[in-house]
Amino acid sequence: MAPRDEPWTAAARRVLPAMRAWRSAFHLEPELSLEEERTREKVVAALEELGIPPRTFPGFTGVIATIGTDRSGPVVALRADMDALPVTEETGLAFRSKFPGKMHACGHDVHMACLLGAAAILSRDGGPRGGPVRLLFQPAEEQGERGGALPLIERGALERPKVDYVVGQHVDPSLPLGQVGWRSGPFMAAADRFHITVRGRGGHASSPHQGPDAILVASEVVVGMQALVSRVRDPLDPVVVSVGSVHGGTRHNILPDEVVLEGTVRTMRPATRAQMESALRRRVRSIAASLGARVRLQYVHGYPTLVNEPAATRAVAEALAVELGRANVVEVDHPLMGAEDFSRYLERVPGTFLRLGVGVPGKPASLHSATFAPDERALVIGAATLATAVEGLQRSPP
Ligand code: NI
Repeated sequence: MAPRDEPWTAAARRVLPAMRAWRSAFHLEPELSLEEERTREKVVAALEELGIPPRTFPGFTGVIATIGTDRSGPVVALRADMDALPVTEETGLAFRSKFPGKMHACGHDVHMACLLGAAAILSRDGGPRGGPVRLLFQPAEEQGERGGALPLIERGALERPKVDYVVGQHVDPSLPLGQVGWRSGPFMAAADRFHITVRGRGGHASSPHQGPDAILVASEVVVGMQALVSRVRDPLDPVVVSVGSVHGGTRHNILPDEVVLEGTVRTMRPATRAQMESALRRRVRSIAASLGARVRLQYVHGYPTLVNEPAATRAVAEALAVELGRANVVEVDHPLMGAEDFSRYLERVPGTFLRLGVGVPGKPASLHSATFAPDERALVIGAATLATAVEGLQRSPP
C-alpha cells in the first residue's frame, strides 16, 4: 500500500462541515424502525454527491454501496444503523426533531454521518488502497427481534464481493470524547423476551381460598425467577432476568382471573442462553403447578451475543493506537448487557464492534434519553476510526 499523505483524523476534519450537515439533517427528521424512508433518501443523496452508486431495495429502507470495486485485497464492510426511538426530544438543539415522539436518542444519526464521512475520505484520490470497502446503512437496529441486519444480509450485504471483515461502532457517553473503546470476545448480550400469562380464578378478595390467586402466583413467579440468576448459572457468567411489566386486576377487592408478566433475559454465552430458557420454563411451570394455577409462556429469541473476533479486533485496535494515540484507544474492561444486531454480521464474518466516546466532563448523558446530544467533535473521531479500521484490516490477510 502506498503511504498516505495525511492522518485519517486530519482528512476527517476537512469533511466535518459535510458530516455536520448530514448529521443534523438525519437528526431533524428521525424515523422509527423500518420506516426510514426520508433517511434512506438522504443517505442516497449523500452517496450520489460523493460519486458512490447506492443500491436500494423495494419495500426495505436499507442501503448498500461499495467503493473501490476494482481493487484487490480484503473486503471490509462498515455498518451504520439508521433508526430513531419513540422519545420526544428535549435537547433544545437548533436541529432538534421535527416530530414529537421520535428522536435520534441513540446516536444513529451520528453513526450514519461518520460512515458517510469515512466513505468521503476513503474514496478520495481513486479510492481505497487495500481492497474494496462495503458500506452498510442498516434500518431497524432498535426493533429487537428480527431487526434490520438479517434482512440486509439476505439482500446481499456480505456478498459480491464476499466480505472478509465487518466493523461497526456505537456512541458511548461513558467513554470520554476523543477515545475509542474495544474489547475482544463476547462484548454485548443476547437479549430474549418472555411473556407469561398466569391464570387463576377470580372472585371476591374476601374469599381467596376459592381460587388459585393469579396475583399471588405471579408474585411467586417474579421472585422465583431471580433464584435462577443466583442459583442456576455460574456466578462468573453474567445473566440478567428482569420483569419489566406486570398487569392484572382492576380494584382493591376483586381478585383477577389472570396476570400478565413481561420481561427480558440477557446472557453472554450460547450455552447459558439455552440453559436459562429451559430453567425459566421449568421454574415458572412448577411454581404455577404447585399453587394450582395454569400458565402460558412465550419465550421469544432476540439478538444473539455479539462476539468480537480477537485477531480482527487486535488489528483494528493496533491501527487505532497509531492513528489516535495509544492513550485514546482503551480496552473496555467488561462486557455490556445491552444487545445489538451487529451480532448477526459477526456470526457470519469476523470483525469488531467499537465504542465511540462522546462523554464530556460535567455533562452527564445517557443513551435513549430525551436530552441525549452527543458532541459533534465525535464525528471526526468516528469517521477516522472507520477509515483506520479498514486500513488495519486490509493490511492483515483474511
Ligand atoms: Ni443504538
